[in-house]
Amino acid sequence: MALKKKKLVIGNWKMNIFTTKEAEKLVAGIKKESLKTKNTDIVVAPPFVYLASLKGLVSKKVSLGAQNIFEETAGSYTGEVSAQHLTQFKVSYVIIGHSERRARGESDASISKKIVRALEHKITPVLCIGESVHDDHGEYLDFIKSQLASGLSGVSKMQISDVVIAYEPIWAIGAKEAMNSNQVHEMSLYIQKCIKEMYGAMVMMPRILYGGAVNADNAREIVDRGYVDGLLVGRESLKVENFVGIIKNVDLIK
Ligand code: PGA
Repeated sequence: MALKKKKLVIGNWKMNIFTTKEAEKLVAGIKKESLKTKNTDIVVAPPFVYLASLKGLVSKKVSLGAQNIFEETAGSYTGEVSAQHLTQFKVSYVIIGHSERRARGESDASISKKIVRALEHKITPVLCIGESVHDDHGEYLDFIKSQLASGLSGVSKMQISDVVIAYEPIWAIGAKEAMNSNQVHEMSLYIQKCIKEMYGAMVMMPRILYGGAVNADNAREIVDRGYVDGLLVGRESLKVENFVGIIKNVDLIK
């Protein structure tokens, strides 16, 4: 029997939280309040500048993520941070290809290289994909397929289960309402179908997350009825009670 994967909840702080003290308080609070959860891996992805001070707070349950890496490992790339830098801070996950970065010009080619760099350094890449319009003709399906194909172009069949796919419809990010759980389910099935087409029917599936307007009230329904393995959370990851509310509700799912 296949090993049951734990659920995964990632908090993407984006460009928020402005003091080290605040960052440490947030992570310490998340750790304390989620002590009783059992079935959920928790990740906090702060801005790079906090990784050094948060390194000491990570545990088996709460790990550190980064929000980006550069596509090369070392060299003359002013202002960039590489996967190799992150390894010393116990960073275990890195968000790659978030729509907010794609919107600022990050290309598919660069995203695919970043995924490979992360895997080379044993950091789990979280590949973000998602359409800007969920049109009636289903054009978004081809779009998602091509984002998967290019993002995963350097990932072998052996490596695919070490990747996390975060499906985030762009129209739901920062919005009031999340995608409904039926649609999330359709998309999770579709992503699995694409992965099988790429790697064969016997492939070990990567974990698939949903992101976009997740909160403590909708988290359980989205994961349970949307049949996803977890959530990528933006705004609601910035306060202990909101983020832990999401984690606890996901953790209740059998
Ligand atoms: P949100 O952001 O939860 O604030 O909608 C999600 C994301 O960008 O990952």
